[in-house]
Amino acid sequence: MKKTAKLFFFILTFLFVATAWDEARATPLLAMQSVERCDTCHEEPDRSDPKWVEENYKLSERKCRVSCSVCHVNPSGGMQRNGTGYYYGTKSLSLTTDIPDDVERYIEAIREHGFLTIGGDFRFMAIRGDSTDVDPLYFPMQADLYLNARVHKHVALFTQFGLERAGNSTVREVFGLVDNFPYNSYVKFGRFIPPYGLRLDDHTAFIRTKLELSQAQSDAYFSGVEAGAEPTLFFARAAHFNSDTTPAGSTGLTPTGYSTTAGWAGRWLHLSLSYLGINDLDASSTGSTERSAYGVSGALRYKTLTYLFEFDRKSDDVTSGSVSTEDADITFNELNWRAAQGVNLKARYETYSPDASTGEAELKRYAAGVDFYPFPFTEINAQYRTTDSEPGETANDFFVIGHIWF
Ligand code: HEC
Ligand code: HEC
Repeated sequence: MKKTAKLFFFILTFLFVATAWDEARATPLLAMQSVERCDTCHEEPDRSDPKWVEENYKLSERKCRVSCSVCHVNPSGGMQRNGTGYYYGTKSLSLTTDIPDDVERYIEAIREHGFLTIGGDFRFMAIRGDSTDVDPLYFPMQADLYLNARVHKHVALFTQFGLERAGNSTVREVFGLVDNFPYNSYVKFGRFIPPYGLRLDDHTAFIRTKLELSQAQSDAYFSGVEAGAEPTLFFARAAHFNSDTTPAGSTGLTPTGYSTTAGWAGRWLHLSLSYLGINDLDASSTGSTERSAYGVSGALRYKTLTYLFEFDRKSDDVTSGSVSTEDADITFNELNWRAAQGVNLKARYETYSPDASTGEAELKRYAAGVDFYPFPFTEINAQYRTTDSEPGETANDFFVIGHIWF
């Protein structure tokens, strides 16, 4: 081998070890689990082929990483999957991976369409237990359709349509994306959920609902601008926004704020810090709230075991005549075991601990469940959970969610 080739090889191996070391993040969980093997998102790279050595040694051009945008159109994750997301979801995630030839052909046409790609998420729930008066209670929880138009190498338009529920409008996230720049940098502008912590598919987690960042809360959607970059292992994104009001019709003060999250996503560790600040929340003639929240979140993986975590400190300065501070700590811990192809078992423990002065109840929630992916595009999620709210009130629930996506 020539000396330069050797050097390249050395640098590359180093980069690999480095990326392998500190690179990873998907449904926060999928992002982490995808790194179990290199061929879950693409075919096994041929490390002996000098061609990609030459093509890919430049750090600013490298696309391989485990951040959300590797599999999702939205740089901060969730909603429509892109080509890699399809590949992972159909070839690596499910118990059976065969797709009938004709279906495969149509899917390719959608996935590889150079201009318009579409996607969807449908979730149907059956729940029985203390949280419902009907036993069992059925309802479609989510019925989202996504459209992404790639109008230029650097410009795309994304729109999400869904069920009108809990004050959520039909059109939820909608944004223009200016992307495909060195270090995977981008700018996004429109209406979206601010980047912060772990964006889970479970919209009931305290780390989402108590910070009003859950996709089921209409208040979670803001209008603004987000910018970010993802040089292999590192990622950073920040957004400046205001609540989604119609300027002409609004009365009183419009909540404005910013959020940021940054860290790294590696093969066995994801770690990030997040900050959220919002002024003039719930503004009325008598006062308003100023919110700030700090969080640490991430994932640790050992083989098929993945531990997801988040810890947040929320501080609300409430002005109504006088100023009072309403603080709360929020935690999330989830241990996942990918027991077999298509089968993920989980145990979760979550807490919400508000200061006594807020008069709010302290909450603890224990859950155990399974995510089962029998075929491509299908997930069955079953969970049993117990929520303790002080003083001494306990709710037990069992639910099954059928999820179809494409
Ligand atoms: C390796 C590919 C991959 C990566 C990386 C990835 N995801 Fe996903 N994600 C998927 C697939 C496949 C699905 C659909 C299957 C499912 O829901 O379990 C999905 C589904 C989701 C959903 C539910 C869909 C919805 O909007 O209703 C959320 C939320 C989500 N991902 C968030 C994230 C976030 C946040 C990140 C980055 C931290 C991320 N994902 C990174 C592959 C990925
Ligand atoms: C979460 C999904 C994912 C995983 C896991 C993953 N890759 Fe990648 N990789 C990608 C994507 C996306 C690209 C860009 C493909 C393209 O540009 O068409 C890529 C590209 C590459 C490239 C070309 C250079 C570049 O960065 O664009 C190499 C080499 C590579 N991957 C090696 C690996 C190795 C080695 C592993 C295991 C440690 C791995 N990949 C695991 C998603 C992944």
